[in-house]
Amino acid sequence: MNILLLGQGGREHALAYKLQQSPHCSKLFTAPGNAGTAQCSINVDMAADDFDAIKKFCVSEKIEMVVVGPEDPLVKGVYDFFKNDKALKDIMVIGPSQQGALLEGSKAFAKTFMMKNGIPTASYKEFTAENFTQGVGYIKQHEMPVVLKADGLAAGKGVVICQHPIEAIAEFELMVQQQKFGDASKKVVIEQFLTGIELSVFVLTDGVNYVILPEAKDYKRIGEGDTGLNTGGMGAVSPVPFADDAFMQKVKEKVIIPTIEGIKKENIEYKGFVFIGLIKVEDEPYVIEYNCRMGDPETEVVMPRLKNDLVELFTKTAQQKLNEVTIETDSRHAVTMMAVSDGYPGSYEKGKIISFPSDVSEDSLIFHAGTKQVDDQVVTNGGRVLAVTSYGDSVTDCVNKSKQVLEQIDYDGIYYRRDIGYEFM
Ligand code: AMP
Ligand code: GLY
Repeated sequence: MNILLLGQGGREHALAYKLQQSPHCSKLFTAPGNAGTAQCSINVDMAADDFDAIKKFCVSEKIEMVVVGPEDPLVKGVYDFFKNDKALKDIMVIGPSQQGALLEGSKAFAKTFMMKNGIPTASYKEFTAENFTQGVGYIKQHEMPVVLKADGLAAGKGVVICQHPIEAIAEFELMVQQQKFGDASKKVVIEQFLTGIELSVFVLTDGVNYVILPEAKDYKRIGEGDTGLNTGGMGAVSPVPFADDAFMQKVKEKVIIPTIEGIKKENIEYKGFVFIGLIKVEDEPYVIEYNCRMGDPETEVVMPRLKNDLVELFTKTAQQKLNEVTIETDSRHAVTMMAVSDGYPGSYEKGKIISFPSDVSEDSLIFHAGTKQVDDQVVTNGGRVLAVTSYGDSVTDCVNKSKQVLEQIDYDGIYYRRDIGYEFM
């Protein structure tokens, strides 16, 4: 079948790499894609949220499946756009409906969903300009640190952890009164700070049945030793040693099953990924966020470890037959290390020419994130540039292999964390 993948990051390169391995995949297109997706699919110059252009393309290219990588088109209702259109309604769309995407698109919606379904999460209250004074009072009596979350999508910048009430009140005012994140911060969730270790859990659901994919741990800070500013993610490991069978059983019982039951109970159409951001507090899982898509860079370790045919898996998802599927996982470890542009996550330059190693061992994969093909050269085109994933017998083994590849990659201002997976070595 002909497949259209929407998006342009490392996540999409990893998905494209996996999709094109399937014998069910005839033509694979990525819109807009990057220089990496161009190696395993046909890039289409079309924005991932230009629904009218996507419609025309799907009709003319006889697309049978659309896989949605990023959250933006989902939150804007790409699933519903297809299902409500006569010419598109039979195309399989992998991703939730607009209502389902609210699990990521609205922190307040996600918190209410967790409360209604008994899913463990940090205690919280939500505030707007109308009850601003109560919000200030709530912060004053709250123990520190306290977490402020803009309700809507804020390009990964909407969560602020404050150490002092004065700082928290100032931030709260910026968000609600000055609309620091535009409409996204008209409403703010103020919640308890949880101390523990984070874990990314990935579930694929058809709205009734579900399968659990390999888990991963993401390294969000720019600096080694988890220091400095938050980024989209500087690396990831899978499997995660502390996510043993006993802990994952708890996650399943206390988080995954109630989440799927909640989706069913609320009649939410959901045929896609649920990415559950968890924090393990004294051996108990707490949900810090839901995302309605795969993680990036987590996809760059999850897809390489997934043995199932991804097109088959998505077809079963669309047909609501995920109960017929058993997930098979590569027993090897996988670690991805992200090479970024100098200055990221602040401002950075683009267009730096990238030189690649002439040969890479079969244990390593180079996924492109922010890259672009210009004539016969590949240049940087984003903050996160390349994700180098390696398989190995241990985290250390994987890291050493990825480092070896990264040492042979060059562009002006290349930076990567050398300590990904440090606590598991
Ligand atoms: P998010 O934008 O929702 O992914 O949140 C960004 C990061 O903020 C998370 O990955 C956590 O590291 C941190 N975070 C969010 N909520 C909490 C919380 N309640 N307690 C501690 N850390 C949190
Ligand atoms: N790596 C975290 C995310 O994709 O949101």
